[in-house]
Amino acid sequence: MEIFYARETDIFQFQFMELITFEYMLESLRYNNSTIHFGSLADSGFEELLEKEYGSSKKIILTDETVGELWIEDLITSFPVLSHAEIIQIPPGEDFKSIEVCTQIWEALSEYQIGRNDLIINFGGGVITDLGGFVASLFKRGLRFINIPTTLLSQVDASVGGKTGVDLGPYKNQIGVFSDAEHVFIDPRFLGTLSDDQLLSGFTEMLKHGLIASEEHWNNLIALSKVDSQIDIELILQSVNIKKQIVEVDHKETGIRKNLNFGHTIGHAIEGYKLANDKPILHGFAVAWGMVAEAELSLMKGLITRDINEEIKNKIESKYPKISMDPSDFKDIIKLMYNDKKNRENKIQFTLISGIGMAVYDQNVTDKEILDVLKKVF
Ligand code: GLY
Repeated sequence: MEIFYARETDIFQFQFMELITFEYMLESLRYNNSTIHFGSLADSGFEELLEKEYGSSKKIILTDETVGELWIEDLITSFPVLSHAEIIQIPPGEDFKSIEVCTQIWEALSEYQIGRNDLIINFGGGVITDLGGFVASLFKRGLRFINIPTTLLSQVDASVGGKTGVDLGPYKNQIGVFSDAEHVFIDPRFLGTLSDDQLLSGFTEMLKHGLIASEEHWNNLIALSKVDSQIDIELILQSVNIKKQIVEVDHKETGIRKNLNFGHTIGHAIEGYKLANDKPILHGFAVAWGMVAEAELSLMKGLITRDINEEIKNKIESKYPKISMDPSDFKDIIKLMYNDKKNRENKIQFTLISGIGMAVYDQNVTDKEILDVLKKVF
């Protein structure tokens, strides 16, 4: 593992979501102490904000090699306020979302004599915003940080809502804290260098927001014939607005925020199982099929109709490649679900849906029911 340092480079009801009228002209959303800005960085007042709110702060940009290569020069040269920022660049990928990497970054921050008044800018995908937020929140009991998410997944999900953390061996996000970025800048320009698969992976979280909270959003999304060329800032804003309305009432996930886990109990287990068997798949692909399976569970529990279940299955099947699995895998996949953070009293707790745009959390499901669904869907 190598870190490269470049010095001086230079009781809300779910239905309430249906009542939202999206204000497309909105350029920012606020919740708790966080502001989410939409649109090009230059037009979002990024430079002015850095000067006004963080003028006397040293600035550290945390990124990974992929984003660094594609965008760092552009960022530094477009915003003179960053010309003296220190850049910490880590290798890309989930493997580096670890406490060991945090330790190395904390050592670098000490070397740079970073103090409480200074600022970390997390510039990258979900790994960077999760890890960077965690690093900032613990260093000297908390530095301020800004997120500039560069993937669709981190724009619509990871960078918003204050979940920060790292993995512990095979277990995702086991070590972490809730801590919000002071500002999140969502600039769709960064999506231009993503592959179709990466876009589709982020698109899953948008579909999830529709399924749990807004039929209108779901309909807008499934109407797209091509995800890569048709995702725009208005759809991203709709999606983030749904997440924002959930996390602002239940930041610590004691209630309604659990709805955001729809598709993830089975999805995470599949993702973890595939990774452990050296056949990694994208998070959003695993969660998309996790949503198909959890919709099927919702049908089994009598929460949704056959027609709704069919609609979800057909729409996802038409966009996401089927995940190949052998029935002999299912026992191990169910075992992995027992490590889910939402479980209580050693029972697997699911978030299921009770319609398109409506979710119910803390649903007990037996191993037999999960097994039946896995056999049916995969
Ligand atoms: N990604 C789910 C959440 O932020 O709660």
